[in-house]
Amino acid sequence: MALYSAAASVLAGLQRRDGALKTLVYKSRFQNVKQLYALVSETLRYSPVLDSIMDGAALLKAEKKLPPYLAKVLVYDLLFGKGLKCGGRWKVLVLKHRARLQAELARLKVHRKVSCNEDLLAPAEGVIQVPQVPRYVRVNTLKTCKDDVVDYFKRQGYSYLGRAARMEELSSLSGKQFLLDPHLPELLVFPPQTDFHENRLYVAGHIILQDKASCLPAFLLSPPSGSHVIDACAAPGNKTSHVAAILKNKGQIFAFDLDPNRLATMSTMLVRAGASCCELANQDFLTVDPSDPKYSHVTYILLDPSCSGSGMVKRLPAEEDAPSSERLRALARFQRKALTHALRFPALQRLAYSTCSVQQEENEDVVWDVLQEHGTAFRLVNLLPSWPQRGLATFPGAECCLRACPATTLTNGFFVAVLERQQECNSQDSSSSLPAEADVDSGAERSQNGEGRGPHAARKKRRKKSQCVK
Ligand SMILES: C[S@@+](CC[C@H](N)C(=O)[O-])C[C@H]1O[C@@H](n2cnc3c(N)ncnc32)[C@H](O)[C@@H]1O
Repeated sequence: MALYSAAASVLAGLQRRDGALKTLVYKSRFQNVKQLYALVSETLRYSPVLDSIMDGAALLKAEKKLPPYLAKVLVYDLLFGKGLKCGGRWKVLVLKHRARLQAELARLKVHRKVSCNEDLLAPAEGVIQVPQVPRYVRVNTLKTCKDDVVDYFKRQGYSYLGRAARMEELSSLSGKQFLLDPHLPELLVFPPQTDFHENRLYVAGHIILQDKASCLPAFLLSPPSGSHVIDACAAPGNKTSHVAAILKNKGQIFAFDLDPNRLATMSTMLVRAGASCCELANQDFLTVDPSDPKYSHVTYILLDPSCSGSGMVKRLPAEEDAPSSERLRALARFQRKALTHALRFPALQRLAYSTCSVQQEENEDVVWDVLQEHGTAFRLVNLLPSWPQRGLATFPGAECCLRACPATTLTNGFFVAVLERQQECNSQDSSSSLPAEADVDSGAERSQNGEGRGPHAARKKRRKKSQCVK
């Protein structure tokens, strides 16, 4: 029963706009997060169908004491899920109506001229659909390598089309085809709706199911093996495990998060991913002391703070709509504080700031405000010049940042900026914290072009060059 009541509370929380689905699932303290998340998301997916069936069967009229959200998850599991296993007295109550509910389902299928349940989910005519985002699979190089994963999928009957030359190729994938992403060297791309949550490689932590945009911060931060890195707002840890893979588990990641439940999930996830170089702390990042000798070698920081999540593709009908301006202001205040705090770490060289928000207030505005406070100490790095969507031109140099969205980059909506400490010789002769045209961080581009050189190699070269200029 605990499962169904937890699912009903999450649905009620979504209705009240208490938070996003993931947040509410974690907050519920229900132990099996995955099971609860799956039940709620599937119930939401079938929500209009369930409403129609429950109305047709007059379930809530007949059972006045049955709470509506509880009724919905129970009916979902009865008709479309795994069948009611638990549920106590409520289960008995719903089972009394099984025949009516099944009859309503059959009637609906006849009416819509479909033969299987999934077909009931097809949108009604005239409804605009959000562009579909491919299924991205990050190969976890702590446990395996790209070639082995490619071979595995080939043995499973998938057909490998090699490395995509252009982004558009990703949107024409179908059936059991897959590609290597044109930007990220360890990212495989499958058609949307491909589900690997039960896949052996996923369960063993050999692959991580992570949207392409969410892989950008660690890839663009690119700390060399052996570095000390802070992941300031880390849970549930997909980016942390990506950084650990880039470090090859050599060095140290100090990962902070305020939420103990998310941190507990993260800890399990990191074990599964084989990430052993991480120290987790349930601590407010704003209270972490930059002058603590423990952090004196921290040269890289990944800052992916809480945000409105407005860029997340809404796969589910009841997920949050546009954030209120009050909420945006509060989020931006925190994001500015966190970024300012991060720049106080004395040895910091490079920082990646990211959000899964499409709001200018949480992105360009935060970066610009903080850069201005820091004068010439830090400047923006011009990221992936061939990336099609840039930061909004709200300040000179904003185009150094990356934006992402389903229509242009076939990902969730996202924003990334990378800030780099100016070399002393540069800061003396530069009056701005913005990059010059020649200061293009093209390392990731080079690796994309098959020269096998990551952003870090490019950075070294660029520093050498700017020292020569002096
Ligand atoms: C966008 S999520 C991070 C996602 C994570 N980077 C990943 O890739 O899996 C933001 C996280 O910041 C945490 N958070 C919010 N305020 C914080 C603070 N003051 N200090 C540390 N963590 C905080 C939240 O609990 C949440 O887990």
